[in-house]
Amino acid sequence: MDGNGRWARSRLLPRTEGHRQGVNAARMAVRYCAQQGVRVLTLFAFSSENWRRPRQEVGTLMDLFVGSIGREVPELVEKGIRLRFIGDRTTFSAKLQARMADAEERTRSNERMELVVAVSYGGRWDIANAAAALAERVRRGELEPEQITPEVMDRHLSTAGLPEPDLFVRTGGEQRVSNFLLWQLAYTELFFTDVLWPDFDEDELGRAFEYFAGRQRRFGHIQEQVVGTGDA
Ligand code: IPE
Ligand code: MG
Repeated sequence: MDGNGRWARSRLLPRTEGHRQGVNAARMAVRYCAQQGVRVLTLFAFSSENWRRPRQEVGTLMDLFVGSIGREVPELVEKGIRLRFIGDRTTFSAKLQARMADAEERTRSNERMELVVAVSYGGRWDIANAAAALAERVRRGELEPEQITPEVMDRHLSTAGLPEPDLFVRTGGEQRVSNFLLWQLAYTELFFTDVLWPDFDEDELGRAFEYFAGRQRRFGHIQEQVVGTGDA
């Protein structure tokens, strides 16, 4: 979700106003994905590097985050959406950590869609964290180093139990991954749009889905193997 600041500055508004508008775009994305039958939606809300922003902006983002948890959970419950936060929770206040755990608990039995919110998240953090967990298991004698396969690694990442992402969407014109789900994006289709996040709407998300529908996914195979010509 990129482009909040530029959206606001182009209107001579403070950057924080862009973040406020961005919350509406996030709500739209959640509703639209649930309606379209998406099983898992992950929103990159705040990266481990975003802590470097000016104090006041970080404060606003945290306030919006806390406010959104409180406001949106009833709709998530009503729509059958399960919430999961991924990221380094130890960077948040005890109060915020408790709110996050409470929101997850209240939506735990929901099965229509899983909404994953990445906060204080970094792909490198995720991989390092999984490596540390695996090392700890080896130290305890529960696991041999030779048993560490990509599948075992998967189970120690913050996205354990979730399918690999099919489609990645980045708004705001930059064409980079910026430390999002580095391991998990290995075979994900990438869609970049110049639309700034607060302007991101159902039409643009629909275009991302159309782009995805037009991709042929080979996962290392050759074309004849995946289209089923009969001689594969
Ligand atoms: C993304 O918008 C939102 C967050 C990182 C929370 P930006 O704040 O990065 O907006 P730009 O890139 O400055 O326009
Ligand atoms: Mg940005």
